[in-house]
Amino acid sequence: MTANAAAQNRPGDRLSSAIRAEIDQWIAKYPLDRKSSAVMAALRIVQEHHGWLSTELMDAVADYLDMPPIAVYEVATFYSMYDREPVGRHKVCVCTNISCLLNGSDHIVEHLERKLGIKLGETTADGKITLKEVECLGACAGAPMVQVDKAYYEHLTPAKVDEILKDLDK
Ligand code: FES
Repeated sequence: MTANAAAQNRPGDRLSSAIRAEIDQWIAKYPLDRKSSAVMAALRIVQEHHGWLSTELMDAVADYLDMPPIAVYEVATFYSMYDREPVGRHKVCVCTNISCLLNGSDHIVEHLERKLGIKLGETTADGKITLKEVECLGACAGAPMVQVDKAYYEHLTPAKVDEILKDLDK
């Protein structure tokens, strides 16, 4: 392979020009030699476009930000907002951390699992909902809480959960 051909087949080329343009806006916020500071934003952007983060896409982000792939995997595996497997059209993320646990998140989880017919970490057969367990989402005063897609719902009860699920895809 010639040097030119290799340059044209870099992992970062897997990112569309639209994705690269969005990431560039974040890179511009940091010093020139700190492109890697944009990694969290870059992973979010790629996930929004592709639905989840495959190894190939994480490698593309690493290449685009001049980072070792392992450093990108570390970020993607640490934060629960990143999905490394395909997910449903909606993500229901239940916080089970201390404030939510003390305020009944275990009952909320049981209710969701029964209602959806899946366990934490699974997706409904129709591909509509993925149920995830997450760490504290910073809304402890509203415990127990859940994040559905980009919205927070607090002071949950089973009845409130039913209302939230009913409104999905309306
Ligand atoms: S413990 Fe659930 S939001 Fe903080």
